[in-house]
Amino acid sequence: MLDLKRTGRNLYRSLHAVIGGWMVLCYLMSALTGLWWSYGWYHDLASKALGIEETRRAPAADRKPKEALADAKGDAPRAAGSRKKRGVEGAPKAMDSSRAISFDPAWQTFVQRVGRDFGRASLTVSRDGRAVSVERFDGPLRGGLMDRYTFDAATGSLEATDLYANRPINKVIGASMLTLHSGAVFGVPGRVIVMLCSLTMPLFAITGWLLYLGRRRKRREADAIAPLPSFATSHANSDLLIVHASQTGTAERIASLSAAAFASAGRAARCLPISALDSVSLAAARCVLFVVSTYGDGQAPDRARSFVRQMMARPAPSGGFGYAVLALGDREYPDFCHFGRQVDEWLTKAGARRLFERIEMNGRDDESEQRWRRQLSALGAATVAGWEEAPVQSWTLAQRKLLNPGSQGGGVHHVRLKVNAATSPGWTAGDIVEIYPHNDPAAVARVLSAAGLDAGALVHGRRLDAHLSGAVLPSAESVRNMSAAALVDTLKPLPHRDYSIASIPADGCLDLVVRQRVRSSGELGMGSGWLTAHAAEGSLVQARIRANAGFYRPDGERALILIGNGTGIAGLRAHLRERSAAGSKGHWLLFGERNARYDAFFKQELEAWRADGTLARIDLAYSRDDDCGRYVQDLVRHSASDIFTWVGGAAAVMVCGSLAGMAPAVDRELRAALGDERVSMMVANGLYRRDVY
Ligand SMILES: Cc1cc2nc3c(=O)[nH]c(=O)nc-3n(C[C@H](O)[C@H](O)[C@H](O)COP(=O)(O)OP(=O)(O)OC[C@H]3O[C@@H](n4cnc5c(N)ncnc54)[C@H](O)[C@@H]3O)c2cc1C
Ligand SMILES: Cc1cc2nc3c(=O)[nH]c(=O)nc-3n(C[C@H](O)[C@H](O)[C@H](O)COP(=O)(O)O)c2cc1C
Repeated sequence: MLDLKRTGRNLYRSLHAVIGGWMVLCYLMSALTGLWWSYGWYHDLASKALGIEETRRAPAADRKPKEALADAKGDAPRAAGSRKKRGVEGAPKAMDSSRAISFDPAWQTFVQRVGRDFGRASLTVSRDGRAVSVERFDGPLRGGLMDRYTFDAATGSLEATDLYANRPINKVIGASMLTLHSGAVFGVPGRVIVMLCSLTMPLFAITGWLLYLGRRRKRREADAIAPLPSFATSHANSDLLIVHASQTGTAERIASLSAAAFASAGRAARCLPISALDSVSLAAARCVLFVVSTYGDGQAPDRARSFVRQMMARPAPSGGFGYAVLALGDREYPDFCHFGRQVDEWLTKAGARRLFERIEMNGRDDESEQRWRRQLSALGAATVAGWEEAPVQSWTLAQRKLLNPGSQGGGVHHVRLKVNAATSPGWTAGDIVEIYPHNDPAAVARVLSAAGLDAGALVHGRRLDAHLSGAVLPSAESVRNMSAAALVDTLKPLPHRDYSIASIPADGCLDLVVRQRVRSSGELGMGSGWLTAHAAEGSLVQARIRANAGFYRPDGERALILIGNGTGIAGLRAHLRERSAAGSKGHWLLFGERNARYDAFFKQELEAWRADGTLARIDLAYSRDDDCGRYVQDLVRHSASDIFTWVGGAAAVMVCGSLAGMAPAVDRELRAALGDERVSMMVANGLYRRDVY
């Protein structure tokens, strides 16, 4: 579709591609028919293809009588009379070198037979001067050859007819080349279309030239982009590699703790992201430990994608190295630990030596983590302090505000937590907080009453309802006739839920942006329900901050292109607050939601950043607004050339929000704007980072 709202290169491309696409049909028809007269070989070929046994000749309509005479004589034209009957082209009389040829007998017979109701006629004499043919142009083909009559030149008697009505379609086409060429075969509209196509030819030359210049500029800018720094690695010469593939930081954390455990025992280990692993270092290593998670639908984490494409497409190098895999995953997903299993299989196939069986971690899985640590000890690692994760801390739900009253989407709440400890824990923009939710008190009461148990009964010094509050609730039937103590023994703790942190420590509070999830049963989601509804303001919330280095701002002062949708504003806001506090200017936000009226999250804050220059540009897409109807990926597409320029100036791209829909579509548009190779290079070098879920 032609989108005239586009500007610059996008408009040229649209004009060129969309209008040109249609007009190419017209140009093709003109070219194919025009060649009929340009080249004898083409004429012969086309005649043959059409099954027309016709000798090469000038177009009938162009053949002037003079030329006909010359044809007839085979030498220079001699006679060209001036008599003109109505609509008759031609000389009434032509002279052979030996005898005069009269057209009159033929013409009279023609007029007697056909009458005078025709548009135009052309008279031609045969080479030997014995026959005269009269061609009549008229009828539905408006100027195309209709009928041809051949007369005896001397007597005027009719010798042969070739009538339009009896002619097969191939002959009609052959005889209509000129009318096809000029569009006249389709009447006046056809002529107008061909004329417009001819007139717009220069437009395509201009748009094509502008597109060429744009592409050339793009190429030059790309060439001028400085080579990107590669990831820093430690102990570059070590033959013990600890390779991590992590999306939200867990695998990376375990990998660096593993490296530290070896370092404590005096053994240097090189800890590196999988994207920095090449076949040379793999083949040269003696021991390689992979700590890899699975993401998306059984895929590798973002920064491992290039490794999958480039390295795993071929057999692994067959060095003498030994290897082991710690695969991180979650049994809630169908392709449990799929990437870890793929890496394992790839190495086994190449004949690499497995040091110990693959260990698979199901979410937070202390037992598997312990097994991994025992295996590391067997390989010579020490036990290091700090292996334990940051502690779960107690926070207070200080404030909660619905950000989108009236929205068509699920309620989005700005949730503010304040730490209960004297000192606030630190974190970095990009980090994640693990929330340990509690059940809806009403649901707990339902289970207890169905089981006929007293909520206040004390088990291990705690009320029974407090035990159930933080545990996966059993069904009422399964606990009927159970004692309170037996029930408590069967309880399993509720899993945690991750949320992107939307503030920075300097704010003095930990902000979240949480969308309320409603299950098909009508119940609220476990984590979002607790944060947005069940926990009252002032309630205690257990939470642990988790480093998510994969979504940290890349090193150096550079512009950020922040792209996101929905609750993805959380991670982007943390970066903007951090940039604003540092006095850094000139960033760009592209954000999408449903309706401008209800879903313009943090509107005033964003406008203030636009006014003070923190944000050089804000592009918003509201998919359900009548005058917009666009998604954030459409914003990326429409600003493709600007994104190219920003990235050429070393800007980094940070994406936060939905993994389903938004993130892959934005990725596609970025690849269209910047090229696959460039985007892959940005991923590998940490200049394209995502926090998508
Ligand atoms: C890195 C990251 C950052 C996130 N940031 C935000 C944010 O800023 N704002 C926001 O609203 N949401 C965010 N989420 C989503 C959030 O963690 C929850 O998934 C969401 O709130 C729904 O959970 P629920 O408990 O309310 O719903 P539930 O009904 O309990 O869960 C919904 C469904 O998803 C599955 N599921 C949900 N979470 C997980 C999980 N962690 N592991 C495995 N399966 C799971 C459940 O099994 C269930 O099928 C983020 C997720 C991740 C991974
Ligand atoms: C959006 C998303 C998709 C996931 N997909 C899978 C999956 O397909 N299979 C799996 O086993 N685990 C999956 N997981 C779970 C992660 O592998 C698990 O949480 C792991 O601990 C994350 O490690 P990381 O922080 O190093 O990325 C997924 C997690 C998220 C947030």
